[in-house]
Amino acid sequence: MEQEVDPSFETLLEYLRQSRGFDFTGYKRASLSRRVLRQMQSYGIETYRDYQDYLEVHPDEFVLLFNTVLINVTAFFRDTIAWEYLQNEVLPQLFATKPERSPIRIWSAGCASGEEAYTLAMILAKLLGREQLRQRVKIYATDIDEESLSQARQSLYRAQDLEAVPADLQTQFFEPVGDRLIFDPDLRRAVIFGRHDLLQDAPISRLDLLVCRNTLMYFNAETQGRVLKRLHFALNPTGVLFLGKAEMLLTHANLFTPINLQHRIFRRVTPQNRRDFSLLDTSPLEEDLSNILEDHRQIGELAFESLPMAQIVININGILVLANATARELFGLNLMDLGRPLQDLEISYRPLELRSYIDQVSRERALILIHDVLRNLSGQSSQSFDVQFKPLENKSAEFLGVSITFVDVTRYHDLQEMLTHSNQELETTNEELESSNEELETTNEELQSTNEELETTNEELQSSNEELETMNEELQSTNEELQTINAELQQRTGELNEANAFLSSLFTSLSLGVIVIDRQLHILTWNHAAEELWGLRFNEAQGKSFLGLDIGLPVEQLRDPILQCLKGEKDRQELVLKARNRRGQEIQCRLSISPLAGGETQQRGAILLMEEVK
Ligand SMILES: C[S@@+](CC[C@H](N)C(=O)[O-])C[C@H]1O[C@@H](n2cnc3c(N)ncnc32)[C@H](O)[C@@H]1O
Repeated sequence: MEQEVDPSFETLLEYLRQSRGFDFTGYKRASLSRRVLRQMQSYGIETYRDYQDYLEVHPDEFVLLFNTVLINVTAFFRDTIAWEYLQNEVLPQLFATKPERSPIRIWSAGCASGEEAYTLAMILAKLLGREQLRQRVKIYATDIDEESLSQARQSLYRAQDLEAVPADLQTQFFEPVGDRLIFDPDLRRAVIFGRHDLLQDAPISRLDLLVCRNTLMYFNAETQGRVLKRLHFALNPTGVLFLGKAEMLLTHANLFTPINLQHRIFRRVTPQNRRDFSLLDTSPLEEDLSNILEDHRQIGELAFESLPMAQIVININGILVLANATARELFGLNLMDLGRPLQDLEISYRPLELRSYIDQVSRERALILIHDVLRNLSGQSSQSFDVQFKPLENKSAEFLGVSITFVDVTRYHDLQEMLTHSNQELETTNEELESSNEELETTNEELQSTNEELETTNEELQSSNEELETMNEELQSTNEELQTINAELQQRTGELNEANAFLSSLFTSLSLGVIVIDRQLHILTWNHAAEELWGLRFNEAQGKSFLGLDIGLPVEQLRDPILQCLKGEKDRQELVLKARNRRGQEIQCRLSISPLAGGETQQRGAILLMEEVK
């Protein structure tokens, strides 16, 4: 039975919810107020209002209060017989229905300082072996209390904490570290701790076993019902729920059916089966409606989980309440991070500082879209995101939080970069083409001008050719003329030769000696009779001065008559001289000197005819 509601206490609970995100409104008032009062009394504070003032001035008090309110009592193998039953009767059957090597997912909700989670790890190691445990089993261990969680993460316990652990398990799974004992680090890896508020946060899903012991009992009936629905959702259709000794679950047979009521071990009831609702205190119509709503909720959650883009949701207290599978994988979040203040997580500042945008969205209640947020990965690689901040409001326009979506636009970014790059290359190529074009045009012009020059040269050559042809023709005709002249000359030469031969034979046949001299008195002709007379041959006399001849003729006596003849003073002179012939005999030589006619004004030479007078 709930005690009467004290408004000032409710105000204090509301204050705790708003200021620290701890919602105790669903807790049983009796034990809750008893514990708060005990804390107040230690400071001599009498009213909840004063205690609220005290909390405002002393923020450290929150931790002490929560330590008092959240009862962290726990132990290894707490209620040993129930654990034995689970280990020997329930789990072997449960695992037998699962495909070989399929993952086994377990949740210890309200795990306090970890003893329950490590108990689970030990019995799983016994049942499956270490190897299978490492490969298949994940034990999620959550609590609302961060202090308890940090103890749990250390996995360090005192010897007396291990009293309920069988001796063989102690030696197998614990090692001494100083005055403490540490849980086997190899098995420890199968346990994942994280903060999770059963009243506010989305449950971990697809579970085979859910251990939620001695936690539900602090919640009031209505809150228990709400939490049980979540636990129901969290389990696989054949999943098992293990509660604490004090938790009976009598009124929730529509969700869970006992496997062993004494040990508080239940199997999930599939809601579609109408018989499972026989114990419900709701009408059939309400049942259907709640089923449909549950289905819708599940579909919604599954759809959110399977979104291809990363999405996270932050509530008004700055707590990360949702992160879909893509977001968890992308940003290294795990389900244990749900329920943690955003500021404690790396995602709050990488790849971009989220908090200022969250503040802006909260203030302005308008969507913000940031394009091309770069995220550097290890090595040289990076990713680009379009990040969208969307305010979440309910139907009454109450602000509930902010949804942040990261759409991976790396491909488009890369594509854009590629396009820009290709564009730049095209521009360069274009410029190169233009310059090549210009060069080609220049070359073309040069070729044209060379062509024109060649044409001109050709024309010149043609005209030279024509000229040469003309000259050739002229030469040919000259040649022909020359040939004619030559023929004529040859004929004349023949005639002359004949005349010469005639004259020569005439000279030779003459019995008179004939000597012809020119105007310089050089001998031109000297015939055979002259040779016979004077003993000098023609070739010895030719060209020599007549007056210089050393012959039997007294040439000196002939000087004057010859000169007179040459001057034209006397036409023909005859004289007789004493001379000696070629044999040295004295002879009388008769001479006639006649002019050799030729020049118009003077004689060309003189002709001397001579004979021995007998
Ligand atoms: C008594 S301990 C139970 C520990 C363990 N399950 C066992 O049975 O030994 C109850 C635990 O529930 C946790 N708790 C209380 N309210 C919670 C909530 N809203 N969400 C999650 N854990 C909560 C407390 O912090 C505490 O560690």
